[in-house]
Amino acid sequence: MLNRERLVLGIESSCDDSCASIVSENGKILSNVVISQNKEHEIFGGVVPEIASRSHLNNIESAVARALAEASVDLRDLDAVASTCGPGLIGGLIVGCMFGKTLSSVLKKPFIAINHLEGHALIAKLTEKIDYPYLLLSVSGGHCQFVSVKSLGEYSVLGATLDDAAGEAFDKVAKLMELGFPGGPEIEKRAISGDKFKYNFPKPTIGRKDCDMSFSGLKTAVRLQIEKMQNLSEQDISDLSASFQYTVGEVLAAKTSEAINIYEKTLDREATDRVFVLAGGVAANKYLRGILSSACTERNYRFVAPDLNLCTDNAAMIAYAGLERLKAGLIDDLSFAPRARWPVENSRKVL
Ligand code: KG4
Ligand code: ZN
Repeated sequence: MLNRERLVLGIESSCDDSCASIVSENGKILSNVVISQNKEHEIFGGVVPEIASRSHLNNIESAVARALAEASVDLRDLDAVASTCGPGLIGGLIVGCMFGKTLSSVLKKPFIAINHLEGHALIAKLTEKIDYPYLLLSVSGGHCQFVSVKSLGEYSVLGATLDDAAGEAFDKVAKLMELGFPGGPEIEKRAISGDKFKYNFPKPTIGRKDCDMSFSGLKTAVRLQIEKMQNLSEQDISDLSASFQYTVGEVLAAKTSEAINIYEKTLDREATDRVFVLAGGVAANKYLRGILSSACTERNYRFVAPDLNLCTDNAAMIAYAGLERLKAGLIDDLSFAPRARWPVENSRKVL
């Protein structure tokens, strides 16, 4: 190859998408393959771990082969292999992590273990060229937290959900209305023609001076409302979707403001830019992007959200985090074990 920019292969398999991507040192995403398992999980209304692991086993090799082919990159041209090693469903993590380690061992190239949450946290830097530090809201099906991103590997959680993640609430509410899986995109679509003020759902954590959140009561309130209704008409579904999405937006916006208050106290540099990054699968929601963008503008924060296909799970974010770690010399040993639980605050450490 003429291009001697370093190339990193990223592999992501922590939930229900088998993903592979190649990112080059000059920050180009050369390929970004996602093999979705939505069809396999749809009938269950959520991800079934055992099905997910088997499916990753079937798909991971073709995801990597496609990522190499689409980037016109030969295996031997790779400079490192980065795999998501946690947090997530352990069966899928083992598949992606072992696949990455095997390639690294055969190619004699460094292996880099990536925390999935670090991938979500950093990807906006690739497309938006933002500097550290920044305030992050990472919100998906498995997590929902405000994080102060100080530098590569240095993260502190300022607040998080006390129960369900926001994406999980989207999925569960969608299941109650039989809207299929994943629920977020469908609820967003239905909400467009709904009345967001039709139902007054609870927003329990608003008014508190912390940035913790709660969505489990909201999900229960939607369930109780649905149980009171006989058959749901298309308009009922739209109104319920809009009222639910509106409530999530109000909670996230209020808590973003509280998170900014807390984050401001941790900043020691007066002149630093104020940047807020929204990441994770729920960040694909255009309504919520709008609400949070306004909340940030009110506080003089620049609002940044990755392209939609970089919000939901993908391997470009894993390859990019791998590239940053490779540049910093933070590579891992092949003995690194995948782990279901791995707080983002510990992502620098090789345990
Ligand atoms: O980051 P992600 O792909 O996987 C996890 O790490 O969980 O996030 C998936 C979550 C699901 O709960 C899905 O319903 C939600 O993100 N999601 C959305 C939208 N697109 C995906 N939620 C709301 N609106 C969307 N447009
Ligand atoms: Zn994710």
